[in-house]
Amino acid sequence: MIVEVKNLIKRYQDFVALDHIGFTVKEGEIFGLLGPNGAGKTTTISILSGFTKYDGGEVKFLGKEVRRHEMEVKRELGIVPQDIALFEDLTAWENLDYFGRLYGLRGKLLNARIKEALEFTGLSDRKKDRPKKFSGGMKRRLNIACAILHHPKLIIMDEPTVGIDPQSRNHILQSIKELNRMGSSIIYTSHYMEEVREICTRIAIVDHGRVIANGTQSELTSLIATEEKVIIELSSVNYTMIEGIKRVHGVRECAAQGNRLEVIGKIGEKYLSKVIQIVSESDAEIVSMQMEKPSLESVFLTLTGRSLRD
Ligand SMILES: Nc1ncnc2c1ncn2[C@@H]1O[C@H](COP(=O)(O)OP(=O)(O)O)[C@@H](O)[C@H]1O
Ligand SMILES: [Mg+2]
Repeated sequence: MIVEVKNLIKRYQDFVALDHIGFTVKEGEIFGLLGPNGAGKTTTISILSGFTKYDGGEVKFLGKEVRRHEMEVKRELGIVPQDIALFEDLTAWENLDYFGRLYGLRGKLLNARIKEALEFTGLSDRKKDRPKKFSGGMKRRLNIACAILHHPKLIIMDEPTVGIDPQSRNHILQSIKELNRMGSSIIYTSHYMEEVREICTRIAIVDHGRVIANGTQSELTSLIATEEKVIIELSSVNYTMIEGIKRVHGVRECAAQGNRLEVIGKIGEKYLSKVIQIVSESDAEIVSMQMEKPSLESVFLTLTGRSLRD
């Protein structure tokens, strides 16, 4: 485990911001913290990075209690904060130089790392410009560049795509996957379930300072749903085929609309290969096939009675 959070409690005076929050992140994962505004994502991350004190529980990074090993934690962590932290009057290069020095990089290595980070974030040709002239998306990318100079084991990104243009957003999501392929574990917080669905291997859904559900996407959706829909488009459909499919164990319903078959099956039952076998034993060809799983949004709605976006 690269991160272990257990029973974490944080109070702001009488207000309980984190109420026994707990989750683990495995090495190599892109872990998503998904929750609405005010859920406690930023507070959790700030504690994990050693910037905020907490009132109870355990927070370990690389097996070590964060509050006792602050310096070590900071060396191996790259943080992209929710509120962009840059010097507006320094150039992009100078910003990187400043943050690189904070991590103890100097000389040729520092220069090489700055070049690498600029290239990685697509900002090489803007290195002499000041962030005050940058778009929101470019500032965010520069902030990411600042966080990866020291090749951290864990990169934490706190809502990095809020309020930026679609092109930068795409660039950021792709670069997170790339950083992960290159060996960093990632914690990604968001209130956009589409993003979390796109990039995260495991997800904790948080609300009111608690983890209300935790797992892979299919584990989360299977929490609330017991059935899924498979839509198979065929070159032709016949009665024997439909009757055959209806008798497959795990299939509840099978209906045809023209050359389209809609099969409702029980999640977890291995009915699909039997269905395909029946289809291929007829003369029909499969033109396309698609699976409709319940969304993370509906998981949130079911568990909390509220929409994720309110
Ligand atoms: N410094 C603070 N003082 C008082 N309350 C705070 C402070 N920081 C955060 N909170 C409260 O704690 C809760 C969690 O906030 P936060 O961690 O920022 O949530 P998120 O990042 O999920 O939007 C919110 O209700 C917020 O108002
Ligand atoms: Mg936040």
